[in-house]
Amino acid sequence: MPRFPDHLTGDGPHNPFPGVRVLERRLGREIPHQLGSNEGLDMPHRALRERFGDALAEHVYSYGDAEALGIRQRLAEQKGIPLEAMLVDAGADSLIALTLRAVTSPGETVVATRGTYPTFAYFARGEGARLVEVPYNEGPGRLAPDLEALAGAAHEERARLVYLANPDNPGGHLHRDEDVLALRERLPDDCWLLLDEAYHDFRDDADGEFGRRVLPGVVRLRTLSKAHGLAGLRVGYAIAEPETLAVMMKVRIHYAVSTLSQAAAETVLDAPGEVAAHVAAVRKRRERLATHLRELGADVLPSATNFVGVRLPTAELAAEVHKTLLDEGKLIARPADPALGHVLRITAVEDALAPGRLATLEQALRRG
Ligand SMILES: Cc1ncc(COP(=O)(O)O)c(C=O)c1O
Repeated sequence: MPRFPDHLTGDGPHNPFPGVRVLERRLGREIPHQLGSNEGLDMPHRALRERFGDALAEHVYSYGDAEALGIRQRLAEQKGIPLEAMLVDAGADSLIALTLRAVTSPGETVVATRGTYPTFAYFARGEGARLVEVPYNEGPGRLAPDLEALAGAAHEERARLVYLANPDNPGGHLHRDEDVLALRERLPDDCWLLLDEAYHDFRDDADGEFGRRVLPGVVRLRTLSKAHGLAGLRVGYAIAEPETLAVMMKVRIHYAVSTLSQAAAETVLDAPGEVAAHVAAVRKRRERLATHLRELGADVLPSATNFVGVRLPTAELAAEVHKTLLDEGKLIARPADPALGHVLRITAVEDALAPGRLATLEQALRRG
C-alpha cells in the first residue's frame, strides 16, 4: 500500500472534538442534556423560522455528526459500498484537498492531465506539491486522459499521487474499468491513485459491481452535487480502504458537513426514485444536446456525464463564442488552461436546449 507522511503514521493526531453523535454511538445511548458543547442552543431563531420554517431551525443548533453515519448507511444500503469504506466530506472538492493533505508532504510530486478538472492543480499547488502535467490523448472523437503518460510520469517523477477524473471533465470521456485497474497496476507501489468519480452516477453502469469496489492504493471520490442536485449544500464521499480513511480522518475538518446538509442529503437519498428519474432525464437531455450540435457540424465529444464537451476549430473562436455568450448573460464553460482553449463545455440542463439559447455557438459552427 502507498505511504503516508511520517507525521500521520504514528498514534494521532487525535480529533479533540468528535462530537455528541459520535460519543452517543460509542456509549450506546442518547445524551439528552447537551451542556458542554458551547453551542447556541437557546437561540430562538425567530428570523430563521420566519424565512425557512421550523423544520430548518431544528437542524442548525448542533454540530453535525462528524462520521455522517446516516448518509453512509443509506449509501451502503443502496449501492452496496461497505459502510467502513466510506468517508463523507464537504463535496468532492474537499475530498481532493483532504486526500492531498493526508498523503503528500510539501515538495512531493503529483501528476495530472494538463487541462483536466483544474481544482486538483489549484489545491495541489496550495499544498506545496510539485505538479507534473501530461498532455491529453487527443484524436478524432477522443479527448481522453492518457493513462500510459500518467503512469510513465509517475515513475519518472517519483510521484506520490496521480489524479484521474473518470468520467473526465471537461471532455466527458469514460475510461473502461479494466483500463483504470491496469493504471493502478502500472503505478509505482508507493504512489496513490486519486480517482475522481464526480460524474459516476451518470454512467450507464453506475450501480454495477465495479462501482462499489474498494481498490487498494486508490481513493475514489463521489459527490451529491450533480445527480442529487445538492451542490450548494456540499456533500461528497470517498471510497477507500478503512486504514486509508482512518488517516484521512486525522486531518479532516470534523464538522465540515453541516447538520442541515446531512439531513438534506439523507432526505434526498431516501427518495432514490427521484434521483433515478433525474439521472435518466439528464442523460436524455445530454443526448439531445449532443445530437443537435452534431447536426450543426460540431465536434461533440462522447460524454458519460451531465454535460457535453465541444471542440471548436481554434481556441480563438472558442474564446469569442464564450465571451459573446457571456455578454448575452449565458455562461458556458471554457477551460482556463491553454491546452484546452478550443474546448467548450455545456451542462445538459433544459435551459441549454431552449430555442435560440446557444444561437451564438450555432452561428459560429455554421460559419466554421
Ligand atoms: C471532476 C470534478 N470533480 C469534483 C467536482 C466538485 O464536486 P463537489 O461539488 O462535490 O465539490 C467537480 C464539479 O464540477 C468535477 O467536475
